[in-house]
Amino acid sequence: MTDAERAAFWRGKRVLVTGGAGFLGSALCHRLAAVGARVTALDAMMEDGGANIANLEGASVLLVRGDIREMELNSLAQDVDVLFNMAAQTSHMGGQRDPVADIAINAVAQVRLIRGDAGGGAEGDRRARLDPPVLRQAAAPPGR
Ligand SMILES: NC(=O)c1ccc[n+]([C@@H]2O[C@H](COP(=O)([O-])OP(=O)(O)OC[C@H]3O[C@@H](n4cnc5c(N)ncnc54)[C@H](O)[C@@H]3O)[C@@H](O)[C@H]2O)c1
Repeated sequence: MTDAERAAFWRGKRVLVTGGAGFLGSALCHRLAAVGARVTALDAMMEDGGANIANLEGASVLLVRGDIREMELNSLAQDVDVLFNMAAQTSHMGGQRDPVADIAINAVAQVRLIRGDAGGGAEGDRRARLDPPVLRQAAAPPGR
């Protein structure tokens, strides 16, 4: 696929990037916005990780503050073409300090997203299923 074809694919696409104010998520937001995608970044702006509003400076991106552990994502994901899930608790020290929160973000919330249960409804409630499903899941590296 050429750069022109790639840009044509993304032009006008509605994209939701969880963890969009973080290190990788924000870079993704910049790139997608630059090729004409309509990008929403969802981020809980966690203190321990790489979240920074300045990461999104200069990019035409809507930043929504929200936590994937508790947020009803269906309304945000409605009409979205592609969802990139980059939200994670990435601080090794943060995980040591609060392992329950670490598991809630890096395990439970990730499973909800992957399964498409992030609608705030009961587990397995078909009406609560996300549409579209998560298309890109960042591989988790060892803690840092
Ligand atoms: N940075 C790397 O070199 C690298 C390499 C491979 C994989 N990854 C993976 O990519 C993903 C992103 O990494 P990163 O380096 O951009 O980390 P980062 O800490 O910079 O970004 C993660 C973002 O997720 C947000 N977040 C955390 N918990 C949240 C929650 N409950 N709800 C909403 N947002 C929340 C944080 O506020 C932060 O902005 C992680 O899964 C990481 O393991 C990173």
